Amino acid sequence: MEIRVEKGRPERSSSELLLLFAFEPPEPLEGPVQDVDREWKGFISNLIKQGDFKGESFECLLLYTQGALPASRVLLTGLGKKGEFDLEKWRGAASKAGQFIRNSRVKQFAFPIKGVAGYSESELAESFVTGLLLGLYQFNEFKTLERDKIREIEKVILLGENDKDTKSIGDGLRVGQTISEAVNLARDLVNGPSNEVTPSFLAERAKQIAKDQGMEIQVLEVSQTEAMGMGAFVAVAKGSQEPGKFIVMEYNRGKGLDTIALVGKGITFDSGGISIKPSENMERMKDDMSGAAAVLATLQAASRLQLPFHLVGIMPATENLPSGKAYKPGDILKTLSGQTVEVISTDAEGRLILSDALTYSLRYQPKAIVDLATLTGACVVALGDYVIGLFGNDDALLKRIEEASSKTGERAWRFPLWDDYFEDLKSDVADFRNVGTRAAGAILGGIFLSKFVQKIPWTHLDIAGPASIAKERPYIPKGGTGAGVRLLIQLLRDWK
Ligand code: BES
Ligand code: MN
Ligand code: ZN
Repeated sequence: MEIRVEKGRPERSSSELLLLFAFEPPEPLEGPVQDVDREWKGFISNLIKQGDFKGESFECLLLYTQGALPASRVLLTGLGKKGEFDLEKWRGAASKAGQFIRNSRVKQFAFPIKGVAGYSESELAESFVTGLLLGLYQFNEFKTLERDKIREIEKVILLGENDKDTKSIGDGLRVGQTISEAVNLARDLVNGPSNEVTPSFLAERAKQIAKDQGMEIQVLEVSQTEAMGMGAFVAVAKGSQEPGKFIVMEYNRGKGLDTIALVGKGITFDSGGISIKPSENMERMKDDMSGAAAVLATLQAASRLQLPFHLVGIMPATENLPSGKAYKPGDILKTLSGQTVEVISTDAEGRLILSDALTYSLRYQPKAIVDLATLTGACVVALGDYVIGLFGNDDALLKRIEEASSKTGERAWRFPLWDDYFEDLKSDVADFRNVGTRAAGAILGGIFLSKFVQKIPWTHLDIAGPASIAKERPYIPKGGTGAGVRLLIQLLRDWK
């Protein structure tokens, strides 16, 4: 889909369809919809008066102009009450309007952007494009039948009133596009099945992105990680025939910039290993590399947006399978940190591979470490499937995440990491166990990870719930969501 910016007036636009938004009455029509209404001799205000359009959130009404305007159709979309308007609502409205247009088989539309409710043209353009591209996402790679029935919008024209508006719309468009493409890259990787998206596949995609963006990349083989002392990563990887890969990617915009480590869990399939999972819903466990996908996508976007950082992306990637070579409950592993872990459940593999990845990140002396992981079912029980579990050792960093969360609409909620919880992870035979009680499962995952970051400001995002969803949300289709990508990019954009 091509998105272009043009200077022009909506009532003069000769598009297949003109997209207009309106708040709930008694809010008067303003901006572009008012201009079009005037040109159309009050057609829109009349139908609102008659009660044919109530302006409720995401309500869509398709109108045929019958020659009254150069555009053949007008799509009127509701924004709800003006007092409740924000960019999250706006992204939803953009998505719902886009989906309506696609379902109507219309291939091209124009949309005039004018500041509203205190938001600038560039903010509105960025969020419109984000909502639109995220809401129109579909994963069709493996569909061979009825391919001809797949509908797509081919072209969107964003209209600006003057040169100044056109420029800021263009700026917003580029940012929105870059971010959405990153989210959709993560979604593709999550939706891809584990027989395609293997650790090697992830490594190849990472190499390709590194090459395109001029980033450094290093892919360590399991034998190399073994020689380095990553006993936890090696233990998980050795149960599978598919070779594990420890992927380290670096983006550096210049000398002396803040170093931030982004660490993502990359289990391309989690069967549970010897502590095997029940087969019901096990297919969902192809999404257990969502953290790694988010890290890779964030690096791509950060590079395209030229954000002023030194970013280190660390993505330990492996399957977790049972086999004659698999690690077993009762095994004691020596981690890269030197600390030892007694394996209670081979299904608590995420924290094991992350422990070595977190320790590895320390060699870069980062200002902050952020890890993302589909770590615990307990987090989904606690928060449901659209809220990220938030953990950390540094209040200022946690506040930054919460700030980014409220801006992007990627909800995150804080859990405590009090020392008392650690009691549950004490082992009789090693430094700690990889699993404690059933109670406070998400927190115990966080406590475990906290033992590998020393005193560096660190935050852990448990994305087990939002990584993939069974029921669509306004601009998030079913399946892999790209959870965490927009949150991380916002965190970086607002860092200073
Ligand atoms: N990948 C799972 C966590 C998960 C579960 C993500 C459900 C999404 C939906 C993780 O590796 C896991 O199996 N965790 C265990 C930990 C337990 C053994 C302490 C869990 O949550 O049951
Ligand atoms: Mn597991
Ligand atoms: Zn897992």
